Amino acid sequence: MAEPVLEVSDLVKHYPLTRGVVLRKQVGAVRAVDGVDFTLGRGETLGIVGESGCGKSTVARMLVNLERPTAGSIRYKGEDITRLSGKALKAVRRNIQMVFQDPYTSLNPRMTVGDIIGEPYDIHPEAAPKGDRRRRVQDLLDVVGLDPEYVNRYPHQFSGGQRQRIGIARGLALRPEVIVADEPVSALDVSVQAQVVNLMDRLQSEFGLAYVFIAHDLSIVRHISDRVGVMYLGRIVETGTDTEIYEHPTHPYTQALLSAVPVPDPEAREHRERIILSGDVPSPTDIPSGCRFRTRCWKARERCALEVPALAVPEWFRPAGGPVAHDSACHFAEAVSIRRSAPGVLAPVEGHGDGPG
Ligand SMILES: Nc1ncnc2c1ncn2[C@@H]1O[C@H](COP(=O)(O)OP(=O)(O)O)[C@@H](O)[C@H]1O
Ligand code: SF4
Ligand SMILES: [Mg+2]
Repeated sequence: MAEPVLEVSDLVKHYPLTRGVVLRKQVGAVRAVDGVDFTLGRGETLGIVGESGCGKSTVARMLVNLERPTAGSIRYKGEDITRLSGKALKAVRRNIQMVFQDPYTSLNPRMTVGDIIGEPYDIHPEAAPKGDRRRRVQDLLDVVGLDPEYVNRYPHQFSGGQRQRIGIARGLALRPEVIVADEPVSALDVSVQAQVVNLMDRLQSEFGLAYVFIAHDLSIVRHISDRVGVMYLGRIVETGTDTEIYEHPTHPYTQALLSAVPVPDPEAREHRERIILSGDVPSPTDIPSGCRFRTRCWKARERCALEVPALAVPEWFRPAGGPVAHDSACHFAEAVSIRRSAPGVLAPVEGHGDGPG
């Protein structure tokens, strides 16, 4: 991997759960993020995927310092930024910018597009001299594929896709090294999603950006991600390269998510073994013991309730190596094959054990 720009280690965010109005007493905690580790290399894209409520936005907010972690560290080029304050923090924040989920609510309706995109220069005046800002903003509009003449228009005069381009232009204003994009296309029409993803792809090579690209759907991050982390209830349960995750998933949760991806080819659909997840996602105030996925896992055994599976390469895959040998937090991680001709088709692989138990 390229030299790391972000190193996230054992990141935790717990929100206190209180009762009573006067004597507020803590009765528990919402364990929104519960021990997340990952590394992001320079110019690389890490996709983070998981169902709604699994803690993705909370991770994003901590990465851009909108929220302080309960525990753990975030290193930017080796420096722990969770301990910084004042000028040092401000200087680092400039390099890590966020693109928000909903372009309909994240842009102030009373500000012109020029003021929205140029707003980061109010906070970091050193980034662009006052007389130069209008030109810079127009350049940014051009870069994201909008007419520079639109600078005096208001957000309601744009479509959803155009608004997300404005959000991206604002994210680029300070020339950051890292962009954290929290479901940047989830609120958009399917037909527009690919255009915005393609734009982000182009900007990545043009500006040498590293992305943390968050989505609730594995299919959206596939083409833009170098590596993918799959999240469940506040933790990453499987992580690997694009090929490792999409063609050789070993964690039951990832396998279930992939089996739910629509397959356009009817023949392939027929051959697919479809895994339907039973039950609801447990509440983050009451996380199951041992493996947090066990209440919905069809392979769960006694050990799963007793022992937390570590996110590591399962021992039984290590000797042979290859694409199944990647981090998977499951005591019984197992290989499946996904037919190349038909993405999303799962079948058990002969000769691969189901772990040590
Ligand atoms: N400020 C907060 N106070 C209490 N609970 C929160 C707060 N923010 C998020 N949560 C809870 O934390 C969990 C994770 O939320 P979030 O990070 O928004 O998930 P995602 O982005 O994956 O949908 C959810 O159960 C959510 O209700
Ligand atoms: S550790 Fe057990 S419950 Fe968890 S994913 Fe693996 S088999 Fe399922
Ligand atoms: Mg979210």
